[in-house]
Amino acid sequence: MSETDGGSPPPADKPARSRPRQMPMNRPFRDRTLAEAEGVNPHVALHRELPEVIPAEDAERWRGRWVEAFDSPGPLHLEIGSGNGFYLSGMAAQEPGSRWLGLELRFKRVVIAARKLQAANLKNARLVRFDAFNLARVFAEGELAGVHINHPDPWAKDRQAHRRLISEPVLTQLASYVRPGGELRLKTDFYPHVEALLAYVASPAGRHWEVLGTSHDILHDGAPWANDVCTNYQRKFNEKGLPVYAAWLRRTTLPRPEALG
Ligand SMILES: C[S@@+](CC[C@H](N)C(=O)[O-])C[C@H]1O[C@@H](n2cnc3c(N)ncnc32)[C@H](O)[C@@H]1O
Repeated sequence: MSETDGGSPPPADKPARSRPRQMPMNRPFRDRTLAEAEGVNPHVALHRELPEVIPAEDAERWRGRWVEAFDSPGPLHLEIGSGNGFYLSGMAAQEPGSRWLGLELRFKRVVIAARKLQAANLKNARLVRFDAFNLARVFAEGELAGVHINHPDPWAKDRQAHRRLISEPVLTQLASYVRPGGELRLKTDFYPHVEALLAYVASPAGRHWEVLGTSHDILHDGAPWANDVCTNYQRKFNEKGLPVYAAWLRRTTLPRPEALG
């Protein structure tokens, strides 16, 4: 508020509110989750023992050659925030001709998801424990055929909005890693994520994506795409009778965006 717009400046003893923080993309990589959990969380040691899991400390060496991390062939699909692995294991079973990589930050969820892959004997799916805000450290141009984001954390309060995954910097980065013709599928209980995605695609920055379809209620109207698997969070919203929204994008054939790091 300025002195010319009719308002008064804050009293001298009350500091002016600071401007909202921007979440830096590719923030200097200090794995706080690991440092805090080591020696306390039993899933830290466990996740390193599971062959399905690539721990964060090994993830960067797969950049640009993720397909070599699988024993099976096929295009590579990434699920961001794969949680307990319902979608990852379900899609890997439905589409055995593709490779499926789940990216998840939380140790326990990575372990639970890996055990699902083991139980179903799925060779075309793996997990990487990594922070989705550091994607540039682990993915190279055009190496993904698809990105799947299911119920990303809403960070519903305005002051938390800078933490949202569905944001211009992340979507622009994904346009670099998803090859032309590839797809992005979003399912969410938080409609502002859909609005943000559609507003981004309509903006000049979003010209690398086009909208293939949307749904305002997957349970009743179906998902815009053919194969779908209900996620853990999706089931909870279905049980409460609350809508789950979807948006389906395709990567256009425009050259990749400027490197973002
Ligand atoms: C609301 S849960 C949804 C889980 C699952 N996709 C589902 O639909 O049931 C969000 C998931 O994203 C993960 N997550 C949140 N921030 C992340 C980040 N920066 N990097 C990787 N995963 C993240 C959380 O640990 C959690 O498993």
